[in-house]
Amino acid sequence: MIKLKKISVKLNSKIILHDINLDLKKQQYALLGKSGSGKTTLLNVINFLIKPISGKIYSSFVGEIKSNNDVCIHRSYTATIFQNINLIPRLNVLENVLVGKINRFSPFNFFLPNSRNEKEKALSCLEEVGLISKSLENVRSLSGGEKQRVAIARAIYKKPKLLLADEPVSNLDPKNTKLIMDLLKTLCVNKKICCIVALHNPDLAIKFSRNIIALKKGKIVLDKKSSINKKDIDKIYV
Ligand SMILES: Nc1ncnc2c1ncn2[C@@H]1O[C@H](COP(=O)(O)OP(=O)(O)OP(=O)(O)O)[C@@H](O)[C@H]1O
Ligand SMILES: [Mg+2]
Repeated sequence: MIKLKKISVKLNSKIILHDINLDLKKQQYALLGKSGSGKTTLLNVINFLIKPISGKIYSSFVGEIKSNNDVCIHRSYTATIFQNINLIPRLNVLENVLVGKINRFSPFNFFLPNSRNEKEKALSCLEEVGLISKSLENVRSLSGGEKQRVAIARAIYKKPKLLLADEPVSNLDPKNTKLIMDLLKTLCVNKKICCIVALHNPDLAIKFSRNIIALKKGKIVLDKKSSINKKDIDKIYV
């Protein structure tokens, strides 16, 4: 699905990611690492918001991603749920989901009224996340867990093949944490999406997937396809 070969990233003359090699299939991956280890930076490399100083990225849609056009195609298959959610406060729930339609194939549709078909598609995404009854509410009136579910609906509206979620449960209580993690897992398994979720909690990571990737100071210290043990956890956090 996506392959990173010897990717390094420098920001403000500091090396943030060192020689990252990853080969990700159509599966779920939990991305662990201490605060500042480079999780967000890595997700931003994968969705091409940050340009590495060296290395290559291959995707199954375009092969090696080399041109702006390749990046556009890659992005059209990729959806991101950002660390700070990024909903648009003046829009209602349904309108926020419809923001997901901006992509390479319909960039100008954004300025046209939403068609009935588009609205129906957005409503079915809201149904999938259990929020259809709130579709006309302003997003400002939602709880943290509900906002996160709108962000998930917006992401799946794009019908992504690759879903990146950056700490989607960092501000949620245990009940909503479970709800969001179960929802992400079910959606990704059912839709056969490659999903990478950055998390702080190893227990959540283990429940989410057998595939665990971990970063420490910008380097991969774990890339396992079987459940992790205490020794692995020490490698990440000690
Ligand atoms: N734009 C930037 N310019 C300079 N340094 C940056 C920039 N963005 C991130 N960094 C640095 O890169 C390192 C990794 O940051 P990153 O946000 O990727 O970590 P993280 O693992 O996502 O942390 P957290 O768990 O707190 O979200 C940090 O030391 C951070 O200070
Ligand atoms: Mg982060």
